[in-house]
Amino acid sequence: MRLFDRLEGKVALITGGASGIGESTARLFVQHGAKVVIADIQDDLGSSICEQLGGHGIISYAHCDVTCDSDVRNAVDLAVSKYGKLDIMLNNAGVGNLATDIVDTSNEDFKKVMDINVFGGFLGAKHASRVMIPAKNGCILFTASSLSVWAGFAGHSYVASKHACGGGIGQEFVC
Ligand SMILES: NC(=O)c1ccc[n+]([C@@H]2O[C@H](COP(=O)([O-])OP(=O)(O)OC[C@H]3O[C@@H](n4cnc5c(N)ncnc54)[C@H](O)[C@@H]3O)[C@@H](O)[C@H]2O)c1
Repeated sequence: MRLFDRLEGKVALITGGASGIGESTARLFVQHGAKVVIADIQDDLGSSICEQLGGHGIISYAHCDVTCDSDVRNAVDLAVSKYGKLDIMLNNAGVGNLATDIVDTSNEDFKKVMDINVFGGFLGAKHASRVMIPAKNGCILFTASSLSVWAGFAGHSYVASKHACGGGIGQEFVC
């Protein structure tokens, strides 16, 4: 059901859009008239959301591990080939850390959190810019956190990653 038309004619790509905040955002964007590509690694969930919301004319799913350059490139290219352009890139995919104490934080956990939350956001911004700059149009968003500006309330890996991708909460670049 259409709520308002605030995003009428816009095309959005949402990483981590198969669950949680990303899924809710995808649903809201569609209700506001946007065409949406959900990019995630949870293929069944992502596909079923697309079916619920009306199918490929409105919303599509792309399997996309945000740490994989070619996956992110393909998701951006899908948005452009399917819907003609990309207006909004929401770098939302993210994971938390396992340990809260730095002594117990494994090197692998730190690298994994930084890879998904920071490098994944970089790839999203890079590939979105590839199509937005020539079009002279576009908005690149990151789902940051209150932990982008505060420390001490979660583990070091997560806090460091959110400081990196959101110097101000909900950081935004407009091309
Ligand atoms: N939930 C909160 O309280 C909260 C608060 C502040 C910020 N955030 C941020 O919001 C964003 C969404 O979190 P959420 O709470 O909805 O969590 P969630 O786990 O429900 O959603 C995260 C999504 O990211 C996807 N994902 C994970 N790794 C991925 C990868 N490598 N490639 C592509 N997709 C991947 C997951 O499959 C999932 O669909 C995250 O960046 C998180 O850090 C959450």
